[in-house]
Amino acid sequence: MKSQKIVILTGAGVSAESGIDTFRAAGGLWENHRVEDVATPEGFAKDPELVHRFYNLRRAALKTVKPNPAHYALAKLEAGLMEQGGQLTLVTQNVDDLHERGGAKEVIHMHGILTSMLCGTCEHRWEHLEDASPNLSCRKCYVTGTSRPDIVWFGEMPYAMHVIEERLAACDLFVSIGTSGAVYPAAGFVQLARSMGKATLELNLERSQGSNFFDETRLGPAGTLVPQWVDEVLS
Ligand code: OAD
Repeated sequence: MKSQKIVILTGAGVSAESGIDTFRAAGGLWENHRVEDVATPEGFAKDPELVHRFYNLRRAALKTVKPNPAHYALAKLEAGLMEQGGQLTLVTQNVDDLHERGGAKEVIHMHGILTSMLCGTCEHRWEHLEDASPNLSCRKCYVTGTSRPDIVWFGEMPYAMHVIEERLAACDLFVSIGTSGAVYPAAGFVQLARSMGKATLELNLERSQGSNFFDETRLGPAGTLVPQWVDEVLS
């Protein structure tokens, strides 16, 4: 097999079989909160206590879930491609840490991660696994009251966009797994990849909003589809 460079974008569907609700399913992840209240900088400024409580519940829930076969398969793909002289760039919109716990070594969390806090004063980040509150101080500048979950909220720029765009430009194949294609800029990666002549593949339970842009779509649960596809790539 020729060495391949693959960029993968994952969304909530990859963690669904681990027991984490997706966003757009009925009763989805916002838990009856208005998105504006818990996932915007304005919401945090208005009621930091509520926002911390919302993310404390999500962070605590991580302790009750485990990676599923899709996470393990992607870690196997990362190692397998590296052995063959290729490269996997694993980009996730998910704020859980299941790719890492499934064995993936390098994961780009373009929407941030629940296990990290961000100081709104000095922009220092640190690992934080316990509950947070408005009284939390920054580990570096010691300012109290501006520490926030390290999550990219609506109206904010996703992380590592320049790296993702570089990897897309250099890849042979772009694969989207378990995402509805509803939120930009991630939803636009398929069009970007396509405009640069890259092969594109979608693995999802149902057709995403951008489904027509993919060369191929395979429908089914990620826990089944992803291991099958990874075995094809590595064989
Ligand atoms: P969504 O909830 O919008 O979409 C989840 C997708 O996964 C849907 O297309 C489902 O059909 C699919 N799905 C569900 N179960 C699956 C399974 N077992 N196997 C495979 N696919 C399955 O979640 P995202 O697309 O990740 O952003 O949402 C994107 C962003 O919207 C999130 O990162 C979040 C949200 O607003 C921020 O918070 C910034």
